[in-house]
Amino acid sequence: MDSPSRSRASWLLSLAMAISCAPASERPVPDTAGGRTARTPATLPGDAVRGLALLTAFRDSLPEHSGNTLRCTSCHLDNGTRGTAMPWLGSAARYPRYRSRPGYEETMERRINECIARSLAGRMLAERGRDMQDMVAYIESLRQRPRPTPVDSVKLVGKVVQGAGGYAQQCARCHGSNGEGNPALSAPAVWGPDSYSIGAGMARQFTLATFLRHNMPFDHADTLSDREAADIAAYVLSKPRQDHPGKERDWPNGDPPADVAYATTAARASGTSLPPKRPVLRRRVSPDSIR
Ligand code: HEC
Ligand code: HEC
Repeated sequence: MDSPSRSRASWLLSLAMAISCAPASERPVPDTAGGRTARTPATLPGDAVRGLALLTAFRDSLPEHSGNTLRCTSCHLDNGTRGTAMPWLGSAARYPRYRSRPGYEETMERRINECIARSLAGRMLAERGRDMQDMVAYIESLRQRPRPTPVDSVKLVGKVVQGAGGYAQQCARCHGSNGEGNPALSAPAVWGPDSYSIGAGMARQFTLATFLRHNMPFDHADTLSDREAADIAAYVLSKPRQDHPGKERDWPNGDPPADVAYATTAARASGTSLPPKRPVLRRRVSPDSIR
């Protein structure tokens, strides 16, 4: 695992550690995210700099918490500032926030842990721990940035057969013909054991199609039609990916979105039509925190 990207990632982390002047034990970690004042990236506090290093080199920095080869910024592009890629601009001000997937009000820490457990197929971090609080500090630093207008969702049912052709033409050169990714091009896996789990937002048809429509191919963003994006998303999502234990407890109030990737207990009980079963792989890491 001595790839250039790995050593670059470790270098970035050591740089971030060097920049943060006080040792971790002397640096105060505020009790609540809301208690922090907003700072512009030019004057990032040490903990936000370290947080950004963790967000961009998650697996190299926190291997015990990573269940695939993705990093946070594989999806939250441009360090979470790209408006079409689930931006973190202004996110801090939106939490705590009620979300229908868990069915309760989530803190920012819990929201991040959801992405760790589902999108990174990993193990949740201790909410009061330094690693979590440093990542929160980075997202806090974007609190005052205006939230971009959300892009229109691509709400089309995708066709897998058409999507196979589109994937071969538009995606395979970077993500590989078996979806395995290509570290030399920094292109992560899009299905299989190194990809996000079935419980991730990106495993939903409309969420993936919308992301692709505006952000992929990486070097020619905004060139796919809605139809191409939907078909390619359907093809990618027809392939196996890691399971997410407990996913059937999602949307406990029986209000799953139309593009939900799996059957939930509440939907079953209310007689809602259930989505077709998707192939899943064994989970590599339990999502539950061990600390
Ligand atoms: C596989 C893609 C993917 C990866 C990797 C990923 N996320 Fe996410 N994240 C998403 C999606 C999709 C959403 C939901 C966006 C929405 O609700 O519209 C999301 C939402 C979020 C939100 C909520 C933003 C808001 O304003 O409500 C935060 C915070 C977040 N992610 C942080 C993280 C962190 C931190 C990591 C790494 C530990 C991470 N994500 C990794 C796809 C990903
Ligand atoms: C020129 C190379 C390239 C092409 C072509 C390309 N991508 Fe990507 N893709 C990337 C890179 C690089 C990233 C991650 C960016 C980062 O980590 O900063 C990415 C990220 C992604 C992600 C989020 C992370 C993950 O692995 O799940 C998905 C999904 C994705 N691409 C799907 C596609 C699909 C589908 C196509 C075809 C329409 C495509 N990409 C075409 C390079 C490419």
